Amino acid sequence: MKILIANLSKADNNPATMKHQVTRRQFLKLTSVATLAAPILVSSAGAATGQHGPNDRITLGFIGTGKQGGGLLNNFLTMPHSQVVAVCDVDTTRRAHYRKVVEEFYSIKGNAEFKGCTEYEDFRDLIARQDIDAVVIATPDHWHAYIAIAACNAGKDVYCEKPMIHLYADGPEMIETARATNRILQIGSQRVSSIIYAKAKELLASGAIGQLNMVTAHWDRNSSMGAWNYTVPLDASAETCDWPRFLGTAPKIPFNAEHFFQWRKWKAYGSGVAGDLFVHLFSGTHFITGTNGPTRGMATGGLRFWKDGRDAPDVMLGLFDYREGFNLSLRVNFVDGGEESEALIFTGSEGTMEIDGNTISVSRTPLKKEPGYTVSTFTQAMQKRVLESYREKYPVAHPSGALAAGYEKYVAPDGYRDSYDHFKNFFAAVRSRQPVVEDAVFGFRAAGAALLSNLSLDRGAVVKWDPDAMKLG
Ligand SMILES: NC(=O)c1ccc[n+]([C@@H]2O[C@H](COP(=O)([O-])OP(=O)(O)OC[C@H]3O[C@@H](n4cnc5c(N)ncnc54)[C@H](O)[C@@H]3O)[C@@H](O)[C@H]2O)c1
Repeated sequence: MKILIANLSKADNNPATMKHQVTRRQFLKLTSVATLAAPILVSSAGAATGQHGPNDRITLGFIGTGKQGGGLLNNFLTMPHSQVVAVCDVDTTRRAHYRKVVEEFYSIKGNAEFKGCTEYEDFRDLIARQDIDAVVIATPDHWHAYIAIAACNAGKDVYCEKPMIHLYADGPEMIETARATNRILQIGSQRVSSIIYAKAKELLASGAIGQLNMVTAHWDRNSSMGAWNYTVPLDASAETCDWPRFLGTAPKIPFNAEHFFQWRKWKAYGSGVAGDLFVHLFSGTHFITGTNGPTRGMATGGLRFWKDGRDAPDVMLGLFDYREGFNLSLRVNFVDGGEESEALIFTGSEGTMEIDGNTISVSRTPLKKEPGYTVSTFTQAMQKRVLESYREKYPVAHPSGALAAGYEKYVAPDGYRDSYDHFKNFFAAVRSRQPVVEDAVFGFRAAGAALLSNLSLDRGAVVKWDPDAMKLG
């Protein structure tokens, strides 16, 4: 089997130049000598065979232990029948911090067998371990495809954060690699595993709001942290991280702590508000409506407030056509002058359904059976004739029938976390080898649609997309 793999020279960290065709045998031989620290090997029932019983332990490695990776790790330590055995980050401080978090968690649980978590600087050393079943990838966007493809080729199942792609070319390669290697690849838009989204899908399908004609969604913020100005540690330097390995395919520039810790602000590493936030709104819309995606998109926006050297817009508006007969309108505003909020509103011929966090509100106002009339400009005689014929067709009747609910609300239980369910779905698939809720095709359809906004803004034009073939028009 041919696989894509990185050149193991530590000096070369550029995915573009690291891609070489080598055999799986060569890859395993090469990577086995590149390990930075001797790993603590644990026995994983399935790592060698790919078979896992319901109670077999799944062993995990985390690649990228920043805000999201750390949050996922804290969540997933509590998953039954699993063990985190390795963490990888190009930042020495973060990986050491989360190694300790893992070790302390297992020592508090008093499970001596679970002790030990190995730190890696180079993800290739982590994926070379034979005793790791699956990896979680929570690096900046420009590394997602490269690491996910290498991990699949190394025989790991993969949970990869959204947006699945940074470049359109990433999509087909990830889909094909997951298929060819028979690996489970779940993309991390956790809302698609939410009980709230499942209920919204059921309500829409049951006709709760009639015929869908529009989805309006927004994600507004009004704070410095919301605008990605994350805190930079006071000791940040080229010594505390592997800066070239962070850069990867991005332009080679000297160490820049803002680029490292606030990477979303630059297109070289992130995908703007489209890849960061629109993608969640697309995932939700696609899951709930069952569509494959829009046929064309157009966006506008710009850098309106946070003019701090970033090149990604802080205001974006997007409009999308769906051949199922509805339009999607999206908005992100990082300077909204008020409350921070996120919501999706589905509008149908008989009502609206709003999702706001863990709550769904359905409001029903069916179209009246009587169409009404406009006759005031007609002659008196014509008004009389029209009204008579109207009342023949729509006689005055005393309204009757059962009570109808005009307003309904569904709320998830206190403390409900869709990210837990999303990972549970991933774990179930790792064991059963059945499809995940958000595979690479779903992930590409959501991210591909989201990134139409960036293309449209750059080109100043409408951009076409084939949602079935997943190709730009
Ligand atoms: N699903 C969600 O709701 C959600 C929420 C937040 C972030 N995310 C996604 O998670 C990813 C990470 O975001 P974040 O906010 O945690 O960013 P972050 O900067 O806090 O963390 C990223 C980590 O990756 C490390 N890293 C960079 N290059 C690496 C490499 N080549 N190998 C190993 N580690 C590397 C960095 O040092 C950093 O610690 C992004 O893709 C983001 O879109 C998803």
